[in-house]
Parts: sequence; C-alpha cells; structure tokens
Amino acid sequence: MTTNAKYVLALDLGTTGNRAILFDKQGAIAGQVYQEFTQHYPQPGWLEHDPQEIWRDTRDCMQQVLKDKGVSASEIAAIGLTVQRETCLLWDKTTGEPLHNAIVWQDRRTAARCRELSQQGHDADIQQRTGLVLDAYFSATKLEWLLNWVRQEKPDTNFDNVLAGTIDTWILWNLTGGKVHVTDHSNASRTMLMNLANQDWDHSLLDLFGIPAQILPQIQPSMGLFGKTESSLLGEEIPIMAIFGDQQAALFAHGCDRPGMLKCTYGTGCFLISYTGKEVTRSGNRLLSTVAWTKAANGSGTDVAFALEGAMFTTGACIQWLRDGLQLIESAAETEPLARQVEDTNGIYFVPALSGLGAPHWDMSARGAFLGITGGVKREHMVRAVLESIAYQVREVVDAMNKDGDTPIELLKVDGGASQNDFLMQFQADVLNIPVERPAVLDATAQGAAFGAGLAVGFWDDYHKLVNQTSIERTFEPGDGTKVAQDNFISWQKAVERAKNWVK
Ligand code: G3P
Repeated sequence: MTTNAKYVLALDLGTTGNRAILFDKQGAIAGQVYQEFTQHYPQPGWLEHDPQEIWRDTRDCMQQVLKDKGVSASEIAAIGLTVQRETCLLWDKTTGEPLHNAIVWQDRRTAARCRELSQQGHDADIQQRTGLVLDAYFSATKLEWLLNWVRQEKPDTNFDNVLAGTIDTWILWNLTGGKVHVTDHSNASRTMLMNLANQDWDHSLLDLFGIPAQILPQIQPSMGLFGKTESSLLGEEIPIMAIFGDQQAALFAHGCDRPGMLKCTYGTGCFLISYTGKEVTRSGNRLLSTVAWTKAANGSGTDVAFALEGAMFTTGACIQWLRDGLQLIESAAETEPLARQVEDTNGIYFVPALSGLGAPHWDMSARGAFLGITGGVKREHMVRAVLESIAYQVREVVDAMNKDGDTPIELLKVDGGASQNDFLMQFQADVLNIPVERPAVLDATAQGAAFGAGLAVGFWDDYHKLVNQTSIERTFEPGDGTKVAQDNFISWQKAVERAKNWVK
C-alpha cells in the first residue's frame, strides 16, 4: 500500500447496473459512478448479459469516478470487487472474447434439465454436497448448457483455450490483463459445483454436468491478494484485495459475524442471509447453506464462515418491470407516492414470480400473477400490490428462518435500492411485526467489498470499529397497519399457490 493511500475503490457489479464507489478512511462514500446496462430477453424466462458491456462499463465507471474526484491511482489502497452471483459465461483466453452471452441467475432455460436430474434422484446428494437446492438459479446447469451450445454451434472450438467463470472471475481476468483466472469461496459456493465440506470443486458434480475441471477458476479466500490491475487501466497497478458475492458482502458490511445476526438486501432480488458460524448449518425449511466469506488462517488453511440464505428472485426486478415493461411508472421513486394515494390494494394481490419462485417454494415453473382484479382497480392499486408482495415474500423467509433457529428474529437490518422506499419499509415492519432498521449507507454490498479489501491491505485494522461507526438512519416500528397486513398475508399466500406450477 502506498503511503499516500486515501481511498478504497469498490466495484459493485449488480444484475441491472455497475457501480464504482470510493470509500474514504472513515468508511464514508467519497464519490461514485453508476451505469445501468442492457437486459437481453431472447425467449420468455431467459435472461442474458453481454459480458463485454459489463467489462466496458466497469472500466468506464472506475476511470470516471477517479476523474470526477480528481483522485490518482496512487491514492487507492486497494480494490474490492463484489458481483451478482451465479451468472456465468465461457470465453476464449487467446482472444478475450466470450463464446456466448452470460446466462443470468434469473434465467430459467435449464428448468427442464433440473427436473430431469430430480427425477433421476440427484436432489439429496446435490444438496448434501453443495448446501443448495437443485434449481436453475445456480451456475451448474447454465455452464452445462453453454458447453453443449459451444459443442454444437462452434464445433471447432479448442477447449484448451476456454475459460469459465462467474462475473467476478471474468472481471478479475480483465482487470489483470488476462493474467488471473480465480474466484473466491463465496461466489464458488453459488455455482452448485463446490463442495461445502472442503470448499473445492466437487469432481463427481463436474462429471455429472460434463464440466472439464481445467476450465474452472482456482478458488481463493475472499480476502487476500487476487492480483493487480494492469497499469494501463488506471495509470498504476492497484491490488485487488477482496472478492465477495454481493449478498455476502452486504452481510459483512452490516457487521453480521455472530450466529443469528442477519440482514436483508432489497436489490434486483431480495436476499435474507443469517451468519451461522464456522460449521455448515443445514436448514429444515428449504433455505440455502452457503459460504459467507473466507480468509487465510494464521498459519495455514482457510478460516471459513457459513451462512443460511433465503433467496427471493424478484424485488427491484418487478419495479423495473412496472417502469420498462408496463410503463405504469416513470421511476422507481414514484412507487411510493402512488402506493400512498390509495388506502389498500382494492383486493388485488401480486405474486412476484417473474423468474419462478425461490425460497421457500423453489418452484421454477411458477410465474408472476395479479389476482383479484375487478373493474375498480387502478394503477395505484397495482403499484401498491407489487410493493406489498415484496414484503410478503420476505415474511415467508423470516418464518422459515424462525422455524430453523432457536431464537426468533427480533429485528431486520435492511439495505439495497428498494429499502429507500418508506412505504415498503413500514409495510415490511407491519407484516413482520418486528422493527426494520435502515442504515445511512444503503450500498452495503459495495461497502462490504471495500471493508474487506481495506482490512486485507491494512488500510483499516479493526473490523468491529469500522462496522460500528456506520450509522442507522431510521428504524420502522410495527404500526397501525399491522393487523391488516398480517391478515392480508394469509390471502397473499393463497395467491402464491395459484401461480405455482404454471409453465410445463
Ligand atoms: O444471487 C443473485 C444476487 O447476487 C443478485 O444480486 O444485487 O443484483 O439483486 P442483485
């Protein structure tokens, strides 16, 4: 680390946009640049990203934030990288060109393959090895699909030149000028190819999905040196000192490092994660066992922290759909005043299953639905029903966590874009009947990556001091709407049952 280091640079690469944020010595945001990118929907239920667009935007955001703030590369102590998880791609290491668009975590094209694997009786074994539920959400069947596509459509491909990776691996490879092909344990644990017991690629799963081991990245601890940026990118080499899956990064930023501590991030999807400790905890209620983060242990080996997660696929995604698909709103912020213009949803319920249902249902064939529509329903009711549905699905996951744990959840820490919405947060407190605590910095994913990188490089030295100085902006207490919200939750669950098992 240079002596004039003043900042850590976080790269937060989400499902709908990429962001570069500078964090100063106090852990506060000193500057940021954000760019939304293209969502490609080639068929219903499919979603792809152009990996070159993600890389170009990442590079532009990094360069722009430094330029805007007049910061030189020598003032950056380290880079922390955090990404949308599970989304994966193949590329040619000699040309740097992707062989196909990246298949996004929300993509359901491999649902039939998952059902086939399930019929063959693979569920329990896959769950035991990876901690995950057999579902098209994870990378394994997506990589299998990509490899089959390349074998069929590009039969001359020399597989000795092919590399595979999730978005962290792709960006790291580009940041380092093609020198480093590595991922971290938190991202690897989402591929459905990593064995939780030894935190390495599971060769029987690689065989099952026909994935050659040599195309996969090496797995490293989440905090530690991953490589240095090519000097032509920012003028000087900068060490990349942390990589996290975005949801695990947010858990780290919230200071959740004791069993039972949890957070919920309202991003493209909604992800409720509870830190569980140094041993794998298994859920009896269809939650995922996953790696929270890892670091090199003093001496040798790796310190591993585990978590339980409830992944809900559609949150910001349904607000984006209201804006771009239905054009009912012009901006996400508009949902709040619109929802407040009506007293209730006029009897309608929305099921946010635009990409199927994740926890606790795991129904790949469910699809989104509005139920209960009558002639008096206006757009305000529809917008309100969409917001309420986000809170209802979180309630289902909190219930699942409560069934799994000994102590009931008494407080929900939140972050992410949609947590700005006061209507949603109040409704969340009402439907959960517990307080909801919102921090001043809602970019907890970026903050977690910055904290990890800064701690690993010695820019900061005390994790607890760092996380304790982040302030709470507002706590939402359960209010007058609690009784009605609880009653309506029951009706919403009936709507969910109607939306299940929709596509074959
Ligand atoms: O598992 C998918 C998740 O990592 C996506 O995060 O922030 O894009 O909703 P986000």
